[in-house]
Formats: sequence, structure tokens, C-alpha cells
Amino acid sequence: MKLKIVKGTRDLYGADIKKFQFIEDKCRKIFNLYGYSEIRTPVLENTELFARGVGEDTDIVGKEMYSLQDRRGRSLTLRPEGTASVVRHVITNTLMNQNKSVKYFYIGPMFRYEQPQKGRYRQFYQIGVEYFGVPTPDADLEMMLMLQQLFNEINLKSVSFQINTIGCQNENCRPQFKKNLVTYLKERSNTLCTDCQRRMENNPLRVLDCKNPTCKEITKSAPKIHEEVCEDCKTDFSELKSLLDAHEVIYDVNEKLVRGLDYYSKTVFEVYSENLGAQSAAGGGGRYDGLFEIYGAPTVPAVGFALGLDRLVLLMDEGTPTENNVFVVGKDRKAVCKLVDECRQAGYSTIYDPFLSSMKSQFRQANKTNSRVVLVLGEDEIANGNVSVKDMKNSEQNIIPVQSLKTSLFEVFGF
Ligand code: HAM
Repeated sequence: MKLKIVKGTRDLYGADIKKFQFIEDKCRKIFNLYGYSEIRTPVLENTELFARGVGEDTDIVGKEMYSLQDRRGRSLTLRPEGTASVVRHVITNTLMNQNKSVKYFYIGPMFRYEQPQKGRYRQFYQIGVEYFGVPTPDADLEMMLMLQQLFNEINLKSVSFQINTIGCQNENCRPQFKKNLVTYLKERSNTLCTDCQRRMENNPLRVLDCKNPTCKEITKSAPKIHEEVCEDCKTDFSELKSLLDAHEVIYDVNEKLVRGLDYYSKTVFEVYSENLGAQSAAGGGGRYDGLFEIYGAPTVPAVGFALGLDRLVLLMDEGTPTENNVFVVGKDRKAVCKLVDECRQAGYSTIYDPFLSSMKSQFRQANKTNSRVVLVLGEDEIANGNVSVKDMKNSEQNIIPVQSLKTSLFEVFGF
């Protein structure tokens, strides 16, 4: 049997997993600051949850879901996204009867049967946030403030926000816009790509973000949704823009931004980076005030987003950050083991070479593992009850009595 990994999936390890953990830690910290608590929903859900929520006519439901039948013939699906599951949780636990607002975040794998390429996988990881119960644009603002804080903390400079409003379900809002759009498109239908000819019937908004050059040319002069939504949606959108301005969040209004999932209403947004090439969206989200109703539950205003963790990692600096750990170098096994243990007991992540290779080779390993501090136990040090402490960041080296080691490590690490 030839062992091989499933197409579009990968093992995460080494420098990559460190970057994943780094971003996850920052997210956990920031989401906590904003009052969100973590939820872990199952990877497997009933297919209907996504078919109804994300929408039958979307690419995700139409051609990208990993669906299977269980032994009783029930159709189950590996989740392609997280929002529908969190909404299911809120509805089935009647959370909105007990709370005016509910805030969750999640981190985990999602599955979509897409053509794999750089930044696009069949198993990929999302970090998402969902905020239920608040209809006003300050909730939308909060999404972008959290994202901005995250991008600052992980030092991402190349990302920018694009925003739009796609209106609501009121007769004079999105439904009216759709009619106007279809009338416009029908007059030009023979020049649209075959996908868009189909979309024009099932999901006309998606024609607006088609990448085909001819469709792009046609939609340039198409009706603009943010100009044709109802007065309420227009007011919310301009309120959001002035809140974003007041908080110095930089964004562009992209009148063609409509998102690929059907549950959105009003505000939609995406996070872009030109450094991602073809897969330029690092994240996306928006309002979905109508989703609870689609599931037959009373209406709940809601807003959220998800970031593609795999894509954020691609955007981070290439270099591996220096680790916060200690590497003990020496040839005397007893002395090395004792010092390693003392460092670990004191709360420092500590490694050593169990083969006690040559000192030169041990130093090489300390470099390779990006260790922050190297402790050297040479013959002289052991004889005098000392240890040599080398801070790898500035190459400063001091010989100190072993009793002062804790103080010395505290000075370097600050904890
Ligand atoms: P989405 O735009 O479908 O939204 O996905 C969010 C992000 O997941 C994308 O911007 C992208 O970075 C990442 N992503 C999607 N597909 C792949 C893939 N095949 N490989 C790697 N990364 C990928 C949603 O999923 C919504 N649930 C977001 C949301 C939450 N809206 C409201 N709340």
C-alpha cells in the first residue's frame, strides 16, 4: 500500500504550526477583550443545515460540500463554514430567550471541495466570530475593530477592508434591486459567460462579482446596489462609514462586493491583501439578520466574520520568530539533566540534545531551534558551580553562579 495524503489536505508542523498557534493565541486574547467566548461545534452536521442556510444556489452547497450518508442513510456534511453551526446552537439552546445578545468565536477546520492551490485547500482553517442580537452598526464596527487590532498585533500591513451593503428583504430594497439588475442583465444576456447566464436566473447578485472579463465589462454600468437599497439600509450604511472614519479604520466601498453565501443582508465586508495573489481574500463577513428566519426561528439580528488562517499565515513574515525557550549545552549528562529540570520547574520551556553530541553540534542545534537563551555547562562551569548564559538575541554572554540563574533568566524573558 502506498501511503499518501488526501489531495488538498496537509500536515501542519514546524514553523507553520508555530504561526498558526501565534495567530490563534492573539485571537483568543483579543476576542476575550471584546467579550466573546469560544464555542466548538461538531465538524459533522446535517447536510440540510448548510443547504438551507448557505443557500442551494451557492458554489459551496452546489459543488463544494463533502457530503456522505451514515449507516442509517442520513445525509451528513463536513462543515464548509462555521456560521450555520453556531446559529443552530443558538436556536436549539433558545439562547436568545435568555439573553439580549450572545457573542461566540470559533477556531477550527472547514472542508470545501475546491481546486487546491497556494492558499486554497480542501481542509482549511477558519477563525470566526458571531455576534447575535444587536441590529445597530456599532456591532458591525466591532467586527472591523477586532480585525484591525489583530492585524496590528500580528504585524500585517498589506491588508485592507472592502465594504458594501447588499440591502434587506423589504420589497423596495434587495428584491427590487434584483429585478432592476435582471432587467439590465437580460438585455445583455447573450454576452454573459455561461455561469452568469445561469446565475442571472438563480442568484443574479453573484453576476456582479464574476471574474470573467466580459462579465466585468457588462457589470461596470449595471445598477449599483448601495445606491438602490431602502432608506433604512442606506442610513445604516452611512452610519457605519462614519463610525469607521471616527475610529480611523481605512476601507474602500466596493459596489460589486456581494459575498458567496446567501444568508447576508445589509453590511458585507472582505479583508484583502495583494500579497495573496489569486486567493486575495484573507477573510470575509457581514450581517445576516435573516438567517434565523430561514431556519424557522424568530428573527435575530446578527453579524460576524471568518478569517482564513492558512492565508493569514502566508501573509506573515517569512522568518521564524525567536522562541521563548532555553537550550542547555553540555557533555556531563547528570549536570545537564539537573539544569534542564531546574529551568523547567522555574517555568521556562527547555530543551537539550539527549545524544550529548559535540559542543559545536549542540550550539548548531540551539541556533536551528531559534532558542532565546543558551546555557552552557562546560567543565570549568561545573567545577565552579557556575553556568554560562548566552542571550541569543544580542549575543551577550555572562558566567554566573547557578543560584543566580532564575534572576538572570527573569531579566532576559521578563517572566
Ligand atoms: P467565506 O468568505 O466563505 O465566509 O470564508 C472566510 C474565509 O475563509 C475566506 O476569506 C478565506 O480566507 C477562507 N477560505 C475559504 N475557503 C478556503 C479554502 N478553500 N482554502 C483556504 N482558505 C479558505 C464564511 O465562511 C462565513 N461563514 C464568514 C462569516 C462568519 N460571515 C458571518 N459570520
